[in-house]
Amino acid sequence: MMSRIEVAKVLADPKIGEKITVMGWVRAFRANRFIALNDGSGMNNLQVVIDYENIEAEVLENIKYHSCLKVTGELVESQGSGQAVELIADDIEVLGGNNLDEYPIQPKKMSMEFLREKAHLRMRTNTFSAVFRIRHAVAFAIHKYFNDNGYYYLHTPIITGSDAEGAGEMFRVSTLDPADAPKTEDGKVDYEKDFFEKPTNLTVSGQLQAEIGALALGKVYTFGPTFRAENSNTSRHLSEFWMVEPEVAFCDIHGDMDLAEDFVQYLIRYVIDNYMDELEFLDNRIKEEEKNMPKEKRRPMGLIEMLRFVVDNEFERITYTDAINILRNSKPFKKGRFEFEPTWGADLQAEHERFLVEKKFKKPVIVRDYPKDIKAFYMRMNDDDKTVAAMDVLFPYIGEVIGGSQREERMDKLTGRMAQMNIPEEELWWYLELRKYGGAPHAGFGLGFERMVQFITGMGNIRDVIPFPRTPGSAEF
Ligand code: 4AD
Ligand code: MG
Repeated sequence: MMSRIEVAKVLADPKIGEKITVMGWVRAFRANRFIALNDGSGMNNLQVVIDYENIEAEVLENIKYHSCLKVTGELVESQGSGQAVELIADDIEVLGGNNLDEYPIQPKKMSMEFLREKAHLRMRTNTFSAVFRIRHAVAFAIHKYFNDNGYYYLHTPIITGSDAEGAGEMFRVSTLDPADAPKTEDGKVDYEKDFFEKPTNLTVSGQLQAEIGALALGKVYTFGPTFRAENSNTSRHLSEFWMVEPEVAFCDIHGDMDLAEDFVQYLIRYVIDNYMDELEFLDNRIKEEEKNMPKEKRRPMGLIEMLRFVVDNEFERITYTDAINILRNSKPFKKGRFEFEPTWGADLQAEHERFLVEKKFKKPVIVRDYPKDIKAFYMRMNDDDKTVAAMDVLFPYIGEVIGGSQREERMDKLTGRMAQMNIPEEELWWYLELRKYGGAPHAGFGLGFERMVQFITGMGNIRDVIPFPRTPGSAEF
């Protein structure tokens, strides 16, 4: 049995004078005497002090940056500043540390791009261990929020035969041999001979199945991986990402917006209340990074300050039509500084979203009632017959974190929309039956989990908040 105490526990409740054993990795080794040991249990290291009388020179020689050590010793009040307690080592065993001279990660500033290529090691750095502890915290808070509020966690399928968003950017799932696939008479691939006897894909969203759940259990949510084969090489897109999708019966677009606002504020508050060490570290990291940047490139607020700001202020709510008017009357538009012209009927571009959030309102903005032609078939038609009850929650730096809507519960309107958009009714017969048999007004949304974690950690690129990112041209690890 390996009996050890975790560093976070030692630091939270230090028992001075006690003999303890800790295990962890060397985050720093100063003056051949002081080791900063971290075992992943928290942000803070335990200072280990070498007692030369007890530790042999041979062992000392083998202690390198990122050696893995087992240390036994006495916990004492620290003589130095910077920590309250330290461990006077009387026995050190090197558990692992071969070839550390070749260790690619060095105790100095390294680029995020480089570290991404070392995804098997980057988690050992302060930055990434903080990010992934917070990622865990947000996931936990999501389940806690919904459980405490009477929602049921519904597992929706990852392999699907329907294209929920009509985006057509899906990964095919097939066991056919691409070089020798069976063909139909007209020369197309015969998916009836495929594993599921029909074309199937990795899901882009669990929403349509979540609607089934909402119309039975009242309030449900999904939280699982989703896949999009769009060729977007941006700092906000992944090909595989996690989405959280609550779906609520007897809820309209306004209730949907209330839920979205309350939910994301709760998630941020949870991290502020429980992971302040990590947030402070990440906050300082950004300040450090921005030190040498020109003022206009720096963030207007520190990370923690901004998180508090989002939690303490109501989000701005405007319609899409208002948004277009604001953008057309804005200085950047009049001075020709937008790359894309804000035009009624076209999607808001990232530059437009950023203007609304960062310049105009200086807080999260919920835009609703989008033109029907740029939105999915299932969104509820408004009385103007031009817009649908859709809403997007826009955040500073990252833009859209949430997309949602009230769903079309009226059979005739829904089938009418599907016909206009060439969506065959046979494919979604079960979705239509939800309207036929005891349908109810209902609404929901999807939160991009990584975008939320990106916002809370302040990381510049979404690839740095998921352990093993999948993006176009990249599926290592
Ligand atoms: O706006 P989207 O496409 O909405 C849906 O899929 C709806 N079915 C959700 C619902 O109503 N239940 O996606 C939802 C969110 C976006 O707001 C964004 O935060 C995130 O998912 N997202 C991505 N995150 C990372 N990488 C991508 N490629 C993403 N695409 C969307
Ligand atoms: Mg969207």
